[in-house]
Amino acid sequence: MLAYRHLFHAGNFADVFKHALLVRLLLALGRKDKPYCFLDTHAGTGRYDLAHPWAQKAREFENGIGRLWDRKDAPAALAPYLQAVHAENPDGKLRFYPGSPLIAKRFVRPGDRIILTELNKTDFAELKALFERDRRVAVHFLDAYQGLKAFLPPQERRGLVLIDSSFDRAREFERITKALRQAGERWATGTYAVWYPLMAPGAMLAFARSAKQSGIRRILRLELLVQERDFDITVPGCGMLVVNPPWRFADEARPLLDWLWRALSVAGAGSATIDWLVPE
Ligand SMILES: C[S@@+](CC[C@H](N)C(=O)[O-])C[C@H]1O[C@@H](n2cnc3c(N)ncnc32)[C@H](O)[C@@H]1O
Repeated sequence: MLAYRHLFHAGNFADVFKHALLVRLLLALGRKDKPYCFLDTHAGTGRYDLAHPWAQKAREFENGIGRLWDRKDAPAALAPYLQAVHAENPDGKLRFYPGSPLIAKRFVRPGDRIILTELNKTDFAELKALFERDRRVAVHFLDAYQGLKAFLPPQERRGLVLIDSSFDRAREFERITKALRQAGERWATGTYAVWYPLMAPGAMLAFARSAKQSGIRRILRLELLVQERDFDITVPGCGMLVVNPPWRFADEARPLLDWLWRALSVAGAGSATIDWLVPE
């Protein structure tokens, strides 16, 4: 049984960062006529009720989507993501937060496909029920890393894999770089987006080193720090590695992350950075 439940964290700054970038990646894939496949390896429940006692416990969403909800000055690149959240709350009051599967469902086209894997029994049941009637979406009770082996390469030969681990196991960074390397051997041209929390500097250096040594090319690193780097207290920021980012994604993401940092930073602390961990 997995202990992590995303409902405690839904809509927090890390979700905003992750989902804002996810939307840009999906929109980029949708620019070409050919169908694509989106594989979400750690799918969660798909939708989160922010009025639930678990979400209310630390009210993490207040320093995430809560800060963006009423903003009228968001950049155009963020608008599709904000519209996706507003679509779940048609009465204009923030209550439901869409997870990555529901966000993706909004952007895939009729010929595209979504594959979701989730290993928490309760979350899986909720997820399955949410997508019961959508034939473009396949939901599997399956380990993320097994799923990467089972579903890659997708028949479309175009697509995006989101690896959004809950990091509730030791050595998850190592597991992810190994999985990325193996996935790259099966499907070298796919786009992979890997979310991670910013942890102690030693762990982050080791992660960067193993990603560099994996042999994978074209790894863009995006990071958002919203608090001072006090790793004893909390996760002060998060990042995403994007392997094979679409054309112009980095240029698009730069102003978007700058704006997000200003909106989400606690008392002006932190930063937003983008660099090529491994270039072309
Ligand atoms: C951070 S949450 C996912 C949030 C979701 N991607 C979103 O953005 O809305 C991580 C999820 O991964 C699930 N999980 C943890 N380990 C897993 C594994 N080995 N395989 C599949 N799912 C796993 C957890 O139960 C949890 O629902």
